[in-house]
Amino acid sequence: MCRRSSPLLPLLLALLGRPDPTPAEHCDLQPVTAEPPITLSYTTSTVLRGCVSSSSVHTGHEVHVLSIQWSKTPVPMLNVSIIPRADDCTRQAVLILQCPQCSASITSPCQDLLIRTDASLSPKVQGTELPEAAKGDLLGWVQNTYWGITSYSELKDPQRIHLHLGENGSSPRNCIPQKDFDATPHLEAEVLFREVKGCTSSNAHNARAAHIVQLLHKPSLPITEVNLTLSCPEQQPNNQILLLQGPANLAWLLMLNNCSLNFLTSGTYKILHIPMGPQKGELLPDTEEGLIAKAFEKNYSIIASYSVIPISPHITLKIHEREVPRKLPAVPTSSAPSPDLLSTALLLMLRPWKCTDDTMEIVIARSHLEPIKDVVNITLRDISCQAEKNATHFMLHTLLSGCGTLVESHGHAKNELILSLSKGSVLRSVRVAFQCPIPQELFLRLFPTADFKAPQTELEVNKEVFVQASMHLEEDYPADLQLKECYLMTTGMEPMLLVRGNKAQSSSVAMLEEPPSNWTRKVWRFRFTYTIPEGKHVPFSATLKCKAGLQNTTIFEKVLEVKVKDIRRPPNNQGLGLSAVLGITFGAFLIGALLTAGLWYIYSHTRPISKLQPVSTTAPASESSSTNHSIGSTQSTPCSTSSMA
Ligand SMILES: *[C@@H]1O[C@H](CO)[C@@H](O)[C@H](O)[C@H]1NC(C)=O
Ligand SMILES: *[C@@H]1O[C@H](CO)[C@@H](O)[C@H](O)[C@H]1NC(C)=O
Ligand SMILES: *[C@@H]1O[C@H](CO)[C@@H](O)[C@H](O)[C@H]1NC(C)=O
Ligand SMILES: *[C@@H]1O[C@H](CO)[C@@H](O)[C@H](O)[C@H]1NC(C)=O
Ligand SMILES: *[C@@H]1O[C@H](CO)[C@@H](O)[C@H](O)[C@H]1NC(C)=O
Ligand SMILES: *[C@@H]1O[C@H](CO)[C@@H](O)[C@H](O)[C@H]1NC(C)=O
Ligand SMILES: *[C@@H]1O[C@H](CO)[C@@H](O)[C@H](O)[C@H]1NC(C)=O
Ligand SMILES: *[C@@H]1O[C@H](CO)[C@@H](O)[C@H](O)[C@H]1NC(C)=O
Ligand SMILES: *[C@@H]1O[C@H](CO)[C@@H](O)[C@H](O)[C@H]1NC(C)=O
Repeated sequence: MCRRSSPLLPLLLALLGRPDPTPAEHCDLQPVTAEPPITLSYTTSTVLRGCVSSSSVHTGHEVHVLSIQWSKTPVPMLNVSIIPRADDCTRQAVLILQCPQCSASITSPCQDLLIRTDASLSPKVQGTELPEAAKGDLLGWVQNTYWGITSYSELKDPQRIHLHLGENGSSPRNCIPQKDFDATPHLEAEVLFREVKGCTSSNAHNARAAHIVQLLHKPSLPITEVNLTLSCPEQQPNNQILLLQGPANLAWLLMLNNCSLNFLTSGTYKILHIPMGPQKGELLPDTEEGLIAKAFEKNYSIIASYSVIPISPHITLKIHEREVPRKLPAVPTSSAPSPDLLSTALLLMLRPWKCTDDTMEIVIARSHLEPIKDVVNITLRDISCQAEKNATHFMLHTLLSGCGTLVESHGHAKNELILSLSKGSVLRSVRVAFQCPIPQELFLRLFPTADFKAPQTELEVNKEVFVQASMHLEEDYPADLQLKECYLMTTGMEPMLLVRGNKAQSSSVAMLEEPPSNWTRKVWRFRFTYTIPEGKHVPFSATLKCKAGLQNTTIFEKVLEVKVKDIRRPPNNQGLGLSAVLGITFGAFLIGALLTAGLWYIYSHTRPISKLQPVSTTAPASESSSTNHSIGSTQSTPCSTSSMA
């Protein structure tokens, strides 16, 4: 429970504050020359120049040419994965990798891959050098040497390349490189963006910084969804904002790792791993000036990074530890996220609901609701089902058949939590729909009365008890689904068979009629009386074990531990010597500390007056309250420790 609050903070802070107009500021973006504050990479299939051709189809092998450029040193490690078509390596492939001064790792499941490269390979491969003759006119050399070119791709700053083998007979006869060539489906690269720009406003008055990522729209690429993985340094102050701008119909799927920053997106956005619907973004300008002005408008005066990249389905953005200028005071953020979004995100993260086959319980610690200010009360869809409150928690316990709960065939109970928030005299409510999974298991419950309300965890000796075994069925089960057997087990005694094959197995047991039920729930009921022969030792606890299933297959099995309660007087009243005191202490476990203390109290107070008086079996528990705390500490029998639990 307590551990749940920790992941909330980043999310809560990730939600955006309100707009705040400030006077016009301006700054000129300059390339960031020092260590850039971010690392940004994205996947793309668009290469600087490229082509495909069918010229290799009638030669002995397919030939793929990669020509790599780097915008800066140091040059990162390049990883190339060769992916054979349909996992077979029937046709030999040649990979020509031109990548001077770079170190590369090439992985391929095909044994006979022929590599020619000027990169230093790791692990080292012998006899793969690219001859001097290839350097001037790479394509001419390849054509003359291998009599065909299957694909050619020129890339800048790639970190990883996936090259799918395979020739296409319908490709053009000759490979004539074209600018901004779409190398789908044979190539996908993860490219490092190394042209980050930045600037600081002329009248910067705080250390609040913005990161801006702009996606260049390309009508020919049918990308409608962008997965953006964002990682942040630990414990960075929440004084940064991320602006994500792309085509209006774009959906951003955000994966946040330890990020507490504000953000603004164009289009819609969803935070992955929180089951939330798409949230509306904001209309963001699509120009450099417009985006910078937007950041200033939100009071972020430092453009820490400005990146323009082609639209891409996968973007990875890592924000680095940033030295906050010391002379500038850190401005506390005053983000006020919308209560609706905040409540939804918070509750879906807390998941405070718990269902059985016929009940739903919701317990929410008030401290967890702190970010949503002023929660006055909480109800379910049926507002007459209101949560109880104490100083620390909201609690709601209902049956699945009430409070507007819908039980669906997929093993979920659906309802809504309605939070009433009051701000001054203004009362507003937020609705959060949720699904509570119903466990696929057998539930066993003991009840003191035939109305099967208020389950208990005690089994009283010589008193009738009502047992219910039930389960929620996801689909229709065979008609012969039965309560296969129920045993009552106590240590040192033979298990007592109560029920077998839906039938009572003892004179003290009687099967009861199944209650009517609207939904797919199977219920068995019986009553029985637990007797212990005179003189036999009364156990502390007992185990009820039931199985349900078909005749020769058990599908569900469940055990229920219950305390045994015996209010009969102690068998021997010839003075309460040490053994009697111990007996009473043993009773502490059976009857509960209160009653035992009562007995002890009565005994110690009555002995001097009328010794050998039997102790009343109906000793009032209330008398004990003053002494109950001493029970556990003064006795050292095994049960005294367990009764403390
Ligand atoms: C490249 O491959 C090497 C070894 O195969 C691995 O250690 C490294 O992390 C990979 N780099 C990237 C960026 O995938
Ligand atoms: C082969 O190329 C043609 C024309 O460029 C294209 O329409 C087709 O989808 C390609 N086939 C495969 C399997 O890539
Ligand atoms: C984005 O990530 C989600 C979840 O990991 C995945 O279901 C979806 O297919 C991804 N989208 C793209 C465009 O890769
Ligand atoms: C987030 O930070 C915690 C420590 O604060 C760390 O254990 C965890 O690995 C980080 N998660 C990610 C995805 O970086
Ligand atoms: C923006 O900064 C100014 C000056 O520090 C401050 O007065 C104002 O409250 C800030 N606005 C927001 C929304 O933080
Ligand atoms: C709880 O909220 C309902 C509205 O949803 C309101 O009518 C009721 O008065 C509230 N109860 C309390 C105790 O504030
Ligand atoms: C409030 O109720 C919860 C749940 O029953 C309980 O855990 C908690 O101790 C209670 N708090 C107080 C102050 O009584
Ligand atoms: C079950 O049926 C009774 C009577 O037909 C009805 O009043 C009740 O609302 C139903 N409950 C559910 C959960 O459908
Ligand atoms: C289950 O029991 C029935 C009848 O008792 C028998 O016909 C069937 O073969 C049994 N199935 C298995 C899997 O033992």
